[in-house]
Parts: sequence; structure tokens; C-alpha cells
Amino acid sequence: MTPPLLSFASPDRHAAIADIIRRRSSNPADIRRMEFAGLDWTAICEALDLGCGFGLPAGLLARESAPGTRIVGVDACAENGAPFLAAVRAAGRHGAFECLRLDRTLPWPDRRFDLVVAAYSLYYFVDLLPEIARVLSQSGTFVTVTHSETTFRALCEAAGLDASSSPLRRLLRGFCAENGADRLAPFFADIERIEYPNTLRFEPEHLSELLDYADFKMPLLAAERGVSEAVRAGVRQRLAALLRGGGVFEMDKNDVIFRCRRPHAR
Ligand SMILES: C[S@@+](CC[C@H](N)C(=O)[O-])C[C@H]1O[C@@H](n2cnc3c(N)ncnc32)[C@H](O)[C@@H]1O
Repeated sequence: MTPPLLSFASPDRHAAIADIIRRRSSNPADIRRMEFAGLDWTAICEALDLGCGFGLPAGLLARESAPGTRIVGVDACAENGAPFLAAVRAAGRHGAFECLRLDRTLPWPDRRFDLVVAAYSLYYFVDLLPEIARVLSQSGTFVTVTHSETTFRALCEAAGLDASSSPLRRLLRGFCAENGADRLAPFFADIERIEYPNTLRFEPEHLSELLDYADFKMPLLAAERGVSEAVRAGVRQRLAALLRGGGVFEMDKNDVIFRCRRPHAR
């Protein structure tokens, strides 16, 4: 079954959720900056951002990159094109956006890119790994970020959702912190793993943030058959009751960055 992407077709809403995650994170380091820390920017002329969203990683990498760098973003949601290009151009870099639903092929020649990025997106198109290795230059880097398989368990439990039948569980089984290195190993000789231990903590005064966060995630967390208004209302009620009673809601959000080098030649 095709995973639901509707939440990502609203770039402003997605950006607001990214801000909530940053504010409620216990880890003071910004994982978005860690993704690219220490890369040799002088060696990067062409970058490819797969599942680029509204341009959060691309904006950061554009600001770090050398003048003249070109950044190509790909996303299934056409609405992400304008904010992606704005983020790249605000940093004075060249941008291009392709609206594509990625699956098993990439429309670029071998060894075209010095940097390929797939932040919180590879689990949607993990069958693309051979192609990612193909379009990456021999001295290039593939950076990918994913969640732990257990990440959304606490939210599902608190919200009364059955995590075992959620689309997200199926996606994370395809590529997560626990199996990521094994998935990447057939395609790259050098795999670096960077841990990002983190907890999201919502106190009573953060109720509206928790409700927005849960609502945004709902299509991925609820059962495959979709989310009805009744399910949404039930989730809101449960989470509101939890925090209104003076409670605190905490969930693990232990993410991992993989940096892969030396793609295997085919
Ligand atoms: C969780 S968001 C991450 C966005 C961005 N990489 C970031 O780190 O902020 C996942 C993105 O992948 C895109 N996406 C999911 N499946 C896709 C597919 N098959 N082809 C292209 N884009 C896809 C979604 O539209 C969404 O923008």
C-alpha cells in the first residue's frame, strides 16, 4: 500500500512541526546541523536531496556549501518546489526541483553527484539504494537520517492507536536505526554511524504543540485504512486528558545519521 504523504503537501505546516520537534527535544545539539558537520565542501559541486520536503536540509547545506554549488531537490509533493528553491537561493546557490515519486530508478548518469542526502525519507524508497550508489561519485558522500523502530510507540499508546498496524511501522521496518547499517552495507564500503539520543517532552503548557504534532503524524500512525474525524477527535481527547491532569508526555526520538562513502561499482 502506498504510504500517505498528504501532510507533506503543506510546507508551512510541516515547517511548524519541525520547529515543535526542535523546541521539545532534550538533546541540545541540532541534528540538522550534525548531518553535514565536517563535510569537505570544497569537494562538493553537485548535491542531490531526495525527499527534500520544504528545503530544511537543503537550506542548511546551501549555506555551508561553496559558491557555485548546485543543489537538486526531488519530492513527490509539488508544493515543496517553491520553498525548496527559495531556501537554496536565499543562500546564493543554484537550485533545481524535480517533482517525482521515487521508487527504483533515478534519471541521472553514473557518478553525477558529490553529495546525496535523504533525511527522514529513505524509508519511503529504500529500493532506490542501488541507484543512489550509482549516481554518487566515487569520492562522494551519501547522508541519510532515520528514526529508531520504537520511536512512535509511546505516542501511539498515549493516543490509543494500534502501532502494530501503522504505515510508519512498515516504513521503519524497511530502514531504521536498528537495520540501517545492514541495508546500506551491500552498496557502500564505508558506513559511519552517528547516534542522536533524544526525548521529546511535552508539559501541560505545550498541549497545543502536542496536539499539532500528533495530528500531523496521524496518517502515518493510524491504521492503514486511514484516519477518520472520529479517530482524530479521540486522539485529541486522550492527549488533552493526559496533560490537563498535570501530566507530562515523553517519547523517545532516538535518531541516527548514517554517512556512507565509497559506493560499490556495479
Ligand atoms: C519526513 S519528510 C522529510 C523532508 C526533508 N528531507 C527533511 O529532512 O526535512 C519526507 C519527505 O519525503 C517525501 N517523499 C515521501 N515519499 C516519496 C517518494 N516516493 N518520492 C519522492 N518524495 C517522497 C515527502 O513528500 C516528504 O516531503
